[in-house]
Amino acid sequence: GRTRHLLSLDDFEAAARRALPRPIFGYVAGAAEDNRALADNRQAFDELALVPRVLRNVAQRDQGVTLFGTRYASPFGIAPMGIAALSAYRGDVVLARAAAAAGIPAVQSGSSLIRLEEVVAAAPGTWFQAYLPGTPERIAPLLQRVAAAGVQTLVVTVDIPVAGNRENNLRAGFSTPLRPSLRLAWDGLVRPRWLAGTLLRTLARHGMPHFENSFAERGAPILSARVQRDFAGREHFDWAHIAQIRRQWHGPLVVKGILSPHDAALARQHGVDGIVVSNHGGRQLDGAVAPLRMLPAIAEQAGSAMVVMLDGGIRRGTDVAKALALGAQAVFVGRPFNYAAAVDGEAGVAAAIGLLRAELDRNLAMLGATCCAELGPQHLVDRRAPWP
Ligand code: FNR
Repeated sequence: GRTRHLLSLDDFEAAARRALPRPIFGYVAGAAEDNRALADNRQAFDELALVPRVLRNVAQRDQGVTLFGTRYASPFGIAPMGIAALSAYRGDVVLARAAAAAGIPAVQSGSSLIRLEEVVAAAPGTWFQAYLPGTPERIAPLLQRVAAAGVQTLVVTVDIPVAGNRENNLRAGFSTPLRPSLRLAWDGLVRPRWLAGTLLRTLARHGMPHFENSFAERGAPILSARVQRDFAGREHFDWAHIAQIRRQWHGPLVVKGILSPHDAALARQHGVDGIVVSNHGGRQLDGAVAPLRMLPAIAEQAGSAMVVMLDGGIRRGTDVAKALALGAQAVFVGRPFNYAAAVDGEAGVAAAIGLLRAELDRNLAMLGATCCAELGPQHLVDRRAPWP
């Protein structure tokens, strides 16, 4: 296949840079302001070194985990990413189907251009991530729509009361609403595979792309200023709305975007079933702490009452192992799977999942573990700490 020469998740980034127009690649790769939060997400993993255990018969290995009663084949999933249909034709369906085929969770973004009903029909079991306004009468109909579509697990993202300062997007020529520009046109023309395979095919099938899952009704077209109005109500969103959602949503409820142990405790008090420790891939508050650094304190607050998950900067099996050893039950990976979809659609995502899975399988063996639950603090040291 097209991706046989791609040997690690980072290889997909370089390939996607060539495959996508610069404004679209910049939207995916970018973060906020000076990229400090983005950089710390990687730095935090690099500050931990692994301590293998040996001579522990690791012939039978199983990296599977159970989340909310469902068994998954690996402890990682695909994070929600908006506008994925500009990276790959019907990108949300591509990501969800590849995840389902591989037995891992995928979370569909609330700011996607494909209707959630279509994604869930193509890949039952897909989780749905909602962006919700602080207006109770607009929350209820969306929850009803999500439940009617057959979604079981609802993820509510809470780290975006206002949009982050994505000046990097503007520098790369990307904005919402999307402004057609000479650069976008030129970059498209010199990438005929993207132009014909993603953009023209999308326009032919769907017409002008809309944000389809914003609230209850069909949302704004991607080229319209109404997109910003949809963002507006989010500033009012608070714990009272989480309480409302908890009353009205009967499946597993996950809150994404927690970094403070105090907020983890509040989530637990509100009956939330799981949290994603996350700084939104560095795309919201620049200088926000890397989620990995807060994981031990948050896992302590969660106890056994909530499933603790993490995302941000996971690129290798060893990163997955480090997060699990610090108390996460699962992790999510964002950008690399978006790049994989851009490079080779569903086959590309399948290849990327396969690489990460194979890495983690080897890592488990070399750490002396046969399953994820065997990973723990004994497998880690802080590279900067005094020598043990
Ligand atoms: C995101 N992220 C995100 N999160 C969310 O809850 N809803 C969304 O619509 C989006 N959209 C989005 C688009 C793109 C292009 C990216 C890269 C990210 C954040 C995402 O779910 C996740 O938190 C990070 O991407 C994880 O970091 P890594 O794996 O990309 O480093």
